[in-house]
Amino acid sequence: MVNMTNRINVCLIGTGRAGMIHGRNFSRSIDQGKLIALCDPSKENLTQAQAELNCDYLYTDYRDVMKNPEIDAVIIVTPTIYHKEIALAAAASKKHILCEKPLAMNEEECVEIITAAEEHQIKLQVGFMRRFDASFQEAKLAIEAGAIGEVVLVKSLTHGPSNPKPWMFDIHQSNGPIGEVNSHDLDTLRWLTGSEVKSIYAIGGNYRSPEVRDEFPDYYDTVAMTIHFSDGKLGMVDGAQYVQYGYDARTEVLGTKGSILIGDQSKHKITIATSDGKLTKPAMHSWTYLFKDAYVAEDQAFIDCILSDTSPLCTGEDGLMAVKLVKAGLTSLLENRIVEVDN
Ligand SMILES: NC(=O)c1ccc[n+]([C@@H]2O[C@H](COP(=O)([O-])OP(=O)(O)OC[C@H]3O[C@@H](n4cnc5c(N)ncnc54)[C@H](O)[C@@H]3O)[C@@H](O)[C@H]2O)c1
Repeated sequence: MVNMTNRINVCLIGTGRAGMIHGRNFSRSIDQGKLIALCDPSKENLTQAQAELNCDYLYTDYRDVMKNPEIDAVIIVTPTIYHKEIALAAAASKKHILCEKPLAMNEEECVEIITAAEEHQIKLQVGFMRRFDASFQEAKLAIEAGAIGEVVLVKSLTHGPSNPKPWMFDIHQSNGPIGEVNSHDLDTLRWLTGSEVKSIYAIGGNYRSPEVRDEFPDYYDTVAMTIHFSDGKLGMVDGAQYVQYGYDARTEVLGTKGSILIGDQSKHKITIATSDGKLTKPAMHSWTYLFKDAYVAEDQAFIDCILSDTSPLCTGEDGLMAVKLVKAGLTSLLENRIVEVDN
């Protein structure tokens, strides 16, 4: 339901790293979308967010959010383990949902969320912001226009700079880099090829955190995956955490008649040459910087799809497929075999 002013009132649920990006967008930059409420069980995070975002309503329990009829939509940016219960409560209260990736912990949870959204006729958008990035969108249009002939191979990599948080070492809770960073690449491959994955083979290892090898023998910080699509196209994904040199997200599409490169390792288009013979370029340090415009476009698209009653550009089904591919990749890595994906 949309309020009488034709404005979508939004509550941010989860005011951490990624949450504050959406919070700032909805408080300043989104037409016909307005951040009016914040929810976080951490009083410290809530207070800090409120000092910057100055909302009308504050909650420490998401169930209270659902009772406020002024709230039309929720942005779910909590740890993934809580996405399902919050999304189901929002759907039952007829509040539209923008849920950060990964949609949920496993395929069953994703299906529950998608079913609830359909049943209660609310919009469900998943936060794969690369789909809203100008360069990725231009690549998609060029592919569709036939600029590089038929797509043959898509290579995509994501490397994160930071030391993993302690819970990430247990890959049965975090899925490791395949879930944390490569779910974006897996979604990109599906989107740019327009094809579904038939099989995945993954290899990887722990190269940068030898101190946790005994306690977490399955932990890997680097992974390489080869992918075969149902229509014969090929894919390659590489992922890494704790690379230390910066944030790195690049994609290459090889066609029968050309190729497309997306992404750059440098933060600004400046190179400094000095008398000691060195060339210096500032490295991209964070996903928040690289994709800042994409997050705004993603948030605007969410409001637009509610007001125009159209399908989101990144659907619950896309969220489900990415989780399915994360699980297949992880199974392949752990069991050292090619995993067939059931479509
Ligand atoms: N799209 C992207 O590029 C991107 C980037 C980073 C994180 N993410 C995703 O965003 C989500 C959050 O990640 P983060 O890095 O911001 O985590 P974070 O730990 O920085 O923040 C999570 C916040 O949620 C709060 N929280 C915990 N339980 C809650 C509950 N039941 N109700 C409301 N709030 C609750 C925490 O107190 C914290 O403030 C994850 O699903 C993550 O995968 C996506």
